[in-house]
Amino acid sequence: MARPSTVFVCSDCGHTEARWHGRCPGCGAWNTLVEERAPEARPGGRSGAARGRSASAPTGIGELDRVLGGGIVPGSLILLGGSPGIGKSTLTGMVLGNLQAVGRSTLYVSGEESAAQIRLRHERLETAGCRALDVPVLAETDLDAVLAAIEAERPAVCVIDSVQTLHSAELSGAPGSVGQVREVAARVMRTAKAVGAAVILVGHVTKEGSIAGPRVLEHLVDCVLQFEGERERTYRTLRGLKNRFGSTNETGVFEMRQGGLVEVLDPSARFVGEATGKPGSVVLAAMEGSRPLLVEVQALVSPSELVPPRRVCNGIDRNRLALVLAVLGRHAGVGTGTADVFVNVVGGVRVEEPGADLAVALAVASAARGVALGSNGKPLTCFGEVGLTGELRTVGHPERRLEEAAKFGLDTALHPGSVKTLRQALRAAFAASEQSGDPAPVAG
Ligand code: TYD
Ligand code: MG
Repeated sequence: MARPSTVFVCSDCGHTEARWHGRCPGCGAWNTLVEERAPEARPGGRSGAARGRSASAPTGIGELDRVLGGGIVPGSLILLGGSPGIGKSTLTGMVLGNLQAVGRSTLYVSGEESAAQIRLRHERLETAGCRALDVPVLAETDLDAVLAAIEAERPAVCVIDSVQTLHSAELSGAPGSVGQVREVAARVMRTAKAVGAAVILVGHVTKEGSIAGPRVLEHLVDCVLQFEGERERTYRTLRGLKNRFGSTNETGVFEMRQGGLVEVLDPSARFVGEATGKPGSVVLAAMEGSRPLLVEVQALVSPSELVPPRRVCNGIDRNRLALVLAVLGRHAGVGTGTADVFVNVVGGVRVEEPGADLAVALAVASAARGVALGSNGKPLTCFGEVGLTGELRTVGHPERRLEEAAKFGLDTALHPGSVKTLRQALRAAFAASEQSGDPAPVAG
């Protein structure tokens, strides 16, 4: 068979050349051109998925369905990214098990594990009540063999685990290279559209998110889901980064258990119940998409010998932490210039909204002074953005956040509607805690 014509595409800027260059003529980056198959004329107009918004199929996993905007749209292409060990294979195995149980045809393609390994996992899922053993499994890394199987089986929903392990013999380049990954995704998409199958492509991302993988496919797929969290923690969040069929700011919360992933149906109850209420701990009334979520934010402030001192955070943006620390020092009299500061959103949850600022500020101030906030044995609850002049700025959906807090009996919430500046918020927080007879400050 003649080799199909190929082009060289810059993995940074997407510039295309007929021949290889050491330096991309488009953006000037070195060694970024990779070989890809030359694009063919598009077969027959827009894809079925984009054309008709046919009824989506619920996966039986509520947290996933919400992130997807109702379920899996027939014929759509979904990319599920996440670091190794986070639970992508478990989640997709459960999805197919559920769909198979309600009479939809499925196919699980794995290039990573042997059929025996997959069977082992599906047996574990089965004992947890998911009909995973009924799912047809194909352990294969050759792209042509996988495409042939999809054509033969014509599944309604197919999982490719993972896009980095499949290999097209028509292209040079190792599996997982940019050219291979794009080729695999493009050809899987073409075959899937032809047989009307919805496909979930699993993709690994490294901590830096840089290795050839999900990033280079985002434009090609209908939905991009990111599975986040730390492997050694129990909680995982599923986030929509792109969705042609629904909103992108929904989040699902899961817990990894012995019997697979379990949806956390009321994460607020879980996190509030686990909040320590000790110095350095506050509860943030956050919004995760359209849903309010109460999470515990913890801080530790300890004297440092390092210059500059450490700033370590989990679950919030480093730059937001730097900003909050600067405003605390400049406008609220809480200096941390000679101390290490650690901030953690408990449970491995990420909160990427400015409403987290006030919680970070109060947690750090509470930790710096060694004073527990909150009253009557209940943790302090708060939300609000911190402005550069020390003012508190309004954030979205204050009533829904307050309602959620009230649901758990947390009625001493501090927010931009009740206090105007960070200084006032600190005063109110510490006054409330002293009234309730908590221990006096131990550090300045
Ligand atoms: P896995 O889904 O294989 O992660 P990924 O495909 O993203 O690499 O599994 C993640 C981890 O979860 C793995 O270390 C084993 C663990 N696990 C459980 O704790 N319980 C279970 O029922 C299953 C199936 C896996
Ligand atoms: Mg896996």
